[in-house]
Amino acid sequence: MLVMITTFTILLSCCSATVYKVGDSDGWTAKDDTYYNWSEGKEFHVGDSLIFQYDRNFNDVTQVSGALELEFCDSSSPKAVYNTGHDAVTLKEPGYHHFISSNHSQCLSGQRLDVLVVHDPSRPIPPSLPRKILPFGKTYKVGDSKGWNVYDNDFYYKWSEEKQFHVGDNLLFKYDNEVNDVLEISGDLEFKSCDPTSPVAVFRTGHDLVRLTEPGVHYFISSKTGHCEGGLKLRVVVASTPSVSKLSPIDRLIRWLRTLISHHH
Ligand SMILES: *[C@@H]1O[C@H](CO)[C@@H](O)[C@H](O)[C@H]1NC(C)=O
Ligand SMILES: *[C@@H]1O[C@H](CO)[C@@H](O)[C@H](O)[C@H]1NC(C)=O
Repeated sequence: MLVMITTFTILLSCCSATVYKVGDSDGWTAKDDTYYNWSEGKEFHVGDSLIFQYDRNFNDVTQVSGALELEFCDSSSPKAVYNTGHDAVTLKEPGYHHFISSNHSQCLSGQRLDVLVVHDPSRPIPPSLPRKILPFGKTYKVGDSKGWNVYDNDFYYKWSEEKQFHVGDNLLFKYDNEVNDVLEISGDLEFKSCDPTSPVAVFRTGHDLVRLTEPGVHYFISSKTGHCEGGLKLRVVVASTPSVSKLSPIDRLIRWLRTLISHHH
């Protein structure tokens, strides 16, 4: 164990993460184009941090889920809110991260930032210790025998409505990959308007197994013209599994092994 911890410490210290002060000397404030210019030409990696410095009496840092929320300064369903006036935000996942001020007028006058975080394969993300053991989940074939195709407007709404999804479950999307695909998107506004421009993940094998690893709302659409508008859109609410999280890691392991054994009978 000690050897493992030492190895991880070395791994972590070898690839020093960068800390960026947002807006440099201007800090986090409202100025036209400042953040567009500031982030341009920078490459953000998983593990890097952003420092937001601002007057906490008028402002905050609200992380929102999608590009439309950023565009319309919509802070009504934030992913996270920071308000100390000096916030360090670590970028933990690849993909787009969107930050606005929940002060609407400030946001409209330019206090918004989006950064694209890349995962550099030469800098592997060390597995977190202890490894999270996800419970064995169910696999749901999306649309059952009908698969992932355009039917009517509320087909997938009805399909998902009657199900209870949990962390660890899988969604299986089956379709003809010459005419269709699956995009996971991040926000409710993107979902409502069928906006495929900033996906979180793209699947196009025609037989995609998508693991639900995080609790919360997950959105899937097709990027093909007219498909999403025709009802090919799926929203699932994923619950965490409280009965599992109360157990100790050893109990969880035993439980997981039992599930494994019973699945093989
Ligand atoms: C941002 O960059 C554009 C083009 O390079 C420039 O015209 C504009 O003045 C810059 N804005 C700021 C606030 O520096
Ligand atoms: C929003 O910011 C402005 C300064 O630009 C300030 O006058 C106003 O009080 C702020 N609003 C809130 C709700 O903090």
